[in-house]
Amino acid sequence: MRTMIVAGNWKMNKTFQEAEDLTAEITKGVEKLGAPNVEVILCPPAPFLEMVLDLTDETYVAVGAQNVSEFDFGAYTGEISAPMLRSMEVEYCIVGHSERRKYFQESNDLLARKVKSVLRAGVIPIFCCGELLPEREAGNHVKVVKNQLEESLFDLEEKDFRNVVIAYEPVWAIGTGMTASPEQAQEMHASIRELITLQYGERVAQDATILYGGSCNPGNAMELFSQPDVDGGLIGGASLKADEFVEIVKIAINCT
Ligand code: 13P
Repeated sequence: MRTMIVAGNWKMNKTFQEAEDLTAEITKGVEKLGAPNVEVILCPPAPFLEMVLDLTDETYVAVGAQNVSEFDFGAYTGEISAPMLRSMEVEYCIVGHSERRKYFQESNDLLARKVKSVLRAGVIPIFCCGELLPEREAGNHVKVVKNQLEESLFDLEEKDFRNVVIAYEPVWAIGTGMTASPEQAQEMHASIRELITLQYGERVAQDATILYGGSCNPGNAMELFSQPDVDGGLIGGASLKADEFVEIVKIAINCT
């Protein structure tokens, strides 16, 4: 079902103590709001998952990982698998963030395998897609995202695809302060929904949750989340400050 989501991707930031304080502050703020109709997700670095799970237990705040192995178990030193995440009761996992694509050479094929592993384990993938600046400038942005979806998601069976959350994150907007305009976000989100319609039908497309990510903050969240095809946000920098993140959650609640 289509759900409004606000997810915080902390990336490789914070010490344990700082992460503990941030989790406590955000949880307190979200509990005060009651977060009706909005799913709030924190995606801390992997070593902090257990602590964040403990601190958010029986609250409105859910927990996600930032990355996962394509393999379920085995001799893959340093990797973390989807069944491991599931066994800790981690509910979500970001897959295919542009930083993973760029710095760790993650390809659409690899990401297809990661998505499948995550779904097999019963964890919800938050699949990231998005174009580079030159691709947008050349007018190829929709084509690039179409290719990412086709190669990583569209061979899923409908029942599995229904469990995927999509995050559109134009790479040029990530960490740059150059947010996509509401019109640019809406255009891409509508295109993504159209592609889902062609692949899985109108009903699946209408139920799909499509998040926007890239310099989203309390100052622009309202106009982005008010777009008909934008179902919340994947927040980087602003999720590292409790007051800003909670404010974004509040804005999402007002947009439902
Ligand atoms: P910023 O909000 O810092 O631009 O990062 C967005 C992002 O990459 C979330 O995954």
